[in-house]
Amino acid sequence: MRIGVIGTGYVGLPTGACLAEIGHEVICCDKDRTKIETLRSGRLTLYEEGLEELFQRNLAAGRLRFTDSLADCVEGSRVVIIAVGTPPHPVTREADLKYVYSVASGLAAHIKDYTVVVIKSTVPVGTGDSVAELIADQIPSELFEVVGLPEFLREGFAVRDFFHPDRIVVGTDSPRAAGVIGELYRPLLDRGVTLLEVSRRSSEIIKYASNAFLALKIHYINEIADLCERTGAEVGEVAKGMGLDSRIGPKFLRPGPGYGGSCLPKDTAALAFVGQRNQVELSLIQAAIEGNQRRRDRLAGRLWSLVEHLKRPRLAILGLAFKDGTNDCRESPALDIIARLLEREGCHEIGLSLSAWDPQALVSARAILAEAVDYAASPEEALSGADLAAVLTEWPQFADLDLDRVKALMRRPVIFDARNLLDPERVRAAGFEYHRLGDGRVGR
Ligand code: UGA
Repeated sequence: MRIGVIGTGYVGLPTGACLAEIGHEVICCDKDRTKIETLRSGRLTLYEEGLEELFQRNLAAGRLRFTDSLADCVEGSRVVIIAVGTPPHPVTREADLKYVYSVASGLAAHIKDYTVVVIKSTVPVGTGDSVAELIADQIPSELFEVVGLPEFLREGFAVRDFFHPDRIVVGTDSPRAAGVIGELYRPLLDRGVTLLEVSRRSSEIIKYASNAFLALKIHYINEIADLCERTGAEVGEVAKGMGLDSRIGPKFLRPGPGYGGSCLPKDTAALAFVGQRNQVELSLIQAAIEGNQRRRDRLAGRLWSLVEHLKRPRLAILGLAFKDGTNDCRESPALDIIARLLEREGCHEIGLSLSAWDPQALVSARAILAEAVDYAASPEEALSGADLAAVLTEWPQFADLDLDRVKALMRRPVIFDARNLLDPERVRAAGFEYHRLGDGRVGR
């Protein structure tokens, strides 16, 4: 089937490459001409585990193409997927739909045969109806149908999640459109993947409600971690005990510096806005949003307390991306904590300096943090002469650091682990002063 994908970001690009991999003819469109040139020349514009191989294979096979022309993308495609951003409004945090609407009105003129227009961008309830009206203003309604197809791909795991989804949610009342989406995912459905058909409006809410629920789980375990710290318990044990209850489940119960990225912060804020607009109190969401901000302050405060008494302290930051497996630094707790730390009164007086390393995110972090920190070429360089090492992103390789070597490199052997990634016994046996989250057994 010929598929047009509009938007080549973290959603559109992996989706396009994966659809090509399962045999479709995919043409991805972006208005950013430089991006399209880069992709055409065989270079990826973002880091996503496992994507390079799929991308190269399907590009070479001619199943994956790139264009900056909406006409090329839409004409002849049976399915057109809108995967453009819905960034938060700077003031209200409401989802800004200008890209979705501009693409929707732009694509209509290029539809010649029955086409299913899929909304993959995360959009507030009712957007599908507005998109359908926009297109219907330009072409006869028999020519198209608008379907909600929320994406549940995690950054860093997008390829894996595409091939092994927990479910595919299709929002439409039209059996014909649902049939086309069934064909789109045929190879996955043949392997037993669940496709859930719901109304378009329900599909829109499912996406927000799911991301917000994940945010609630993270906020909850972070608060429980604080309680553990004060009461002599250990949050890892508590999360394990809770997670074994199949009604709760073990996932998203890892304490940390709060949730980040381009999705959970944005979607919780957008859902809160939808609640307000509809006079429905979403008090839990509001609590998670506020708690997530406080969390970053709290961790910046803990870092500060470990260096404030030192002269010209050097802090090694391990991890800048908002989570492991990605180069994405949008709403990264690591960057926010660094910024909050550098804003502390007294920071300049004591001459605090930071040296940061991340396996993938140095370039994207530099675009935000600029010269606020030194960017190291290796973890060793970041750790050299440091008085404190802070693990801020859950990259698995940080758990395997050669601790004897780390100790030899650092000026003072102190680690603050904001992801509870390291093995406390191993770290302490290696002679480190080790601080982690939610561990009331050993002081902080
Ligand atoms: C999230 C959802 O998990 C995807 O299902 C959804 O498709 C995506 O948003 C989206 O809307 O596009 P993503 O933002 O890639 O995916 O990242 P997550 O894996 O959900 O992690 C979000 C944040 O929570 C990260 O900062 C991560 O470090 C943090 N987290 C996650 C924790 O602090 N603790 C946990 O136990 C799990």
